[in-house]
Amino acid sequence: MRLDFTLAQEIIRRSEAMKAKIDAIIQREQAEYLDQLHPASADICAEMEAYAAEHRVPIADREVALFLEITARAITARRGLEIGMAIGYSVLHLLRGMPEDGLVVTIEPSDVMIARATDYFARAGVGGRVRIERGRALEVIPQLKETFDLIYLDAVKEEYSDYLEQALPLLRIGGVVIADNLLWGGQVAGDVRAPEQTASTQALRVFNQRFVRHPQLRAEVLSIGDGLGYGVKIV
Ligand SMILES: C[S@@+](CC[C@H](N)C(=O)[O-])C[C@H]1O[C@@H](n2cnc3c(N)ncnc32)[C@H](O)[C@@H]1O
Repeated sequence: MRLDFTLAQEIIRRSEAMKAKIDAIIQREQAEYLDQLHPASADICAEMEAYAAEHRVPIADREVALFLEITARAITARRGLEIGMAIGYSVLHLLRGMPEDGLVVTIEPSDVMIARATDYFARAGVGGRVRIERGRALEVIPQLKETFDLIYLDAVKEEYSDYLEQALPLLRIGGVVIADNLLWGGQVAGDVRAPEQTASTQALRVFNQRFVRHPQLRAEVLSIGDGLGYGVKIV
């Protein structure tokens, strides 16, 4: 009898907590408020955002990019590994959070993206602080020898679990792994709306389970952007 009462209380507590969460996070008004809270990007980042919008290149949301910079700064990252560079928007933010001797190694197979990013890096004066590895991540990561402070996953969603297993040995203890798009436009928690994203959605569901239970990580999924995985390597 007592157990039933406790259980009922727990169910009520959880449903109230869930309701508070929905009210707190998902309201349009709050999303719009947060969106306009930060000043608009200036300089080359604003140009990159405009290019990405015009050419439909998927780049990190502004708050995600800022979060990368803040995290790099918080952990005094000197070496970052990015999987999926596109035009280099997130690389620039990572570098902004790193000291002058900081370096980002980033993996990208598209020559068009590499050419565009190389130009932006040169103009931003950070060409010497980025090493672009041309190729597919699952072929490139096993060739890497250095240790990283921060790893950012942002390429093929079906491959996230493999990226994590390949890259985690390269992350120092206390280092951070960040993974973008873990809620995949709401599809991971709900119904798949885009049939061509069925496989990626299923892969992200598997990834999320592994990520938050990974024995080498303390990890969770933050409701930033499209769902941002954030894990610290503990062993
Ligand atoms: C979402 S975009 C990256 C955006 C970038 N991180 C940013 O926030 O500015 C994903 C990129 O991954 C690249 N990509 C596709 N397949 C890949 C693979 N197998 N390995 C690494 N990158 C890949 C795509 O060409 C694309 O530029």
